[in-house]
Amino acid sequence: MGVHCVAVGACGRGKIDTGVPRMAVRTCGAAAAGAAVAAVAALLSAAIAFHWPPLHAVLQRAFSLHTAHPTKDMESFFQLVRNIVPALTLKKHKGQDGRIGIVGGCQEYTGAPYFAGISALKVGADLTHVFCAREAAPVIKSYSPELIVHPVLDSSNAVEEVEKWLPRLHALVVGPGLGRDDLILNNVRGILEATKARDIPVVIDADGLWLIAQQPALIHGYQKAILTPNRVEFSRLWEAVLSSPMDTQNHSGSVLKLSQALGNITVVQKGEHDVISNGQQVFVCSQEGSGRRCGGQGDLLSGSLGVMVHWALLAGPEKTQGSSPLLVAAWGACTLTRECNHQAFQKYGRSMTTTDMIAEVGTAFNKLFMT
Ligand SMILES: *[C@@H]1O[C@H](CO)[C@@H](O)[C@H](O)[C@H]1NC(C)=O
Ligand SMILES: *[C@@H]1O[C@H](CO)[C@@H](O)[C@H](O)[C@H]1NC(C)=O
Repeated sequence: MGVHCVAVGACGRGKIDTGVPRMAVRTCGAAAAGAAVAAVAALLSAAIAFHWPPLHAVLQRAFSLHTAHPTKDMESFFQLVRNIVPALTLKKHKGQDGRIGIVGGCQEYTGAPYFAGISALKVGADLTHVFCAREAAPVIKSYSPELIVHPVLDSSNAVEEVEKWLPRLHALVVGPGLGRDDLILNNVRGILEATKARDIPVVIDADGLWLIAQQPALIHGYQKAILTPNRVEFSRLWEAVLSSPMDTQNHSGSVLKLSQALGNITVVQKGEHDVISNGQQVFVCSQEGSGRRCGGQGDLLSGSLGVMVHWALLAGPEKTQGSSPLLVAAWGACTLTRECNHQAFQKYGRSMTTTDMIAEVGTAFNKLFMT
C-alpha cells in the first residue's frame, strides 16, 4: 500500500479535455498527405487512447470517487511522469539532459543551495551552476566537487554575471539559502527579469518567495514559473495578493485561488499532502513520506523540480496528454521527495537528515518512474 495520490478536477470545464483528442488531431493533420498514413495514425491514436485514458476522464473519476479506487488513476499520473523522463542513450552530449542554475547561498546559508544543486544532479541533470554570495562560494565548493560555483550574487554586476550564463541554462531555481539582504534581493529582481525575457523556466522557493510577496508583479502571469511555498510562505503570498481571508479547510480551493490571483502561475503548496495548481487544474500528491521533517527537504524538492520542469517542457503537451507539463513535473518532484523521505526514514528513523534522503534519490526514482 503506502501510496495515495489523487487528482482533483477543480474547475471541470473545457480546459482539461485536450489530451488524447488533441494528440489525435495532430497526428491526423500530419498524415493529411495520404489515406494510408491517416489510417495508421487513426489506429495509433486508438491504441494510445486505449492505453492512456484522456486526463479529463482521469480527473473527473478521481474527483467523483475521491480515494475509493485511486490506484488506476494514480497509475496514469505515474505514467505521465515516466513519459517525460528522457532516455539515457549514447548519442547525447553532456548537458542535454539539463543544465540547471541555482540562485542562492549567502554567509548564513550554504547547505540549501548545495542540497538543491546536488539533488538536481542525482535526479539526472548533467550540470549544475550555483550563483551565490562571495563568502558562500568556497564553503559550497568544499561540500562537493560536482557543483560549478559562481561567487557573484552580492557583487554590483551580479545580473550581468548571471545573464552571461542564462543562454546555457535550461531552468533556474531561485531561493535556496538566499537570505534577505537588500543588495542580494535587488540583484535577484534583475535576474528574474532577465530569466523571463529569455523564457527560461524558474522554480521559486524560500526567501525567493519572500521577495515575490514584496513584489508579486515580478512573477505575475509568467507561465514558466513554479512557486513552492510551505504553509507560512503560502499565507504570506496570500496576504500579498488576495484581500479575502483564506479558507484553511479547503486546501485545493486555496491553492487554486492563489494561483489565479498570481495570473495562473503554478503553485505547489507543501504540507501533509502537497497541493499543486495552475489556476485550472489541481493535483494532489499524497505519496507516503514519514512524520520526520528535516530542514533541507524543500531544497531536494526545488532542485529535482528544476530538472523535471525542463524535461516536461522538452517532452511537450503530447507526452503529458494535454495536461500542463509544469503540473506533471511538480507532481513528479513531490512524489519523488516524499518517497526519499519514506525510504530514508525506514533506515534511520528519527536520526534521518536530508543527506540521507538525497542518498535515496536513485533507488526512489527507479522504483517510482523506471518500472
Ligand atoms: C473549495 O474551493 C473551491 C474554489 O474556490 C470551490 O469550488 C469548492 O467548492 C470549495 N470546496 C469546499 C468543500 O468548500
Ligand atoms: C486563469 O484561469 C482561469 C480558469 O481557466 C480563467 O478563468 C482566468 O481567466 C485565467 N486568468 C488569467 C489571468 O489568465
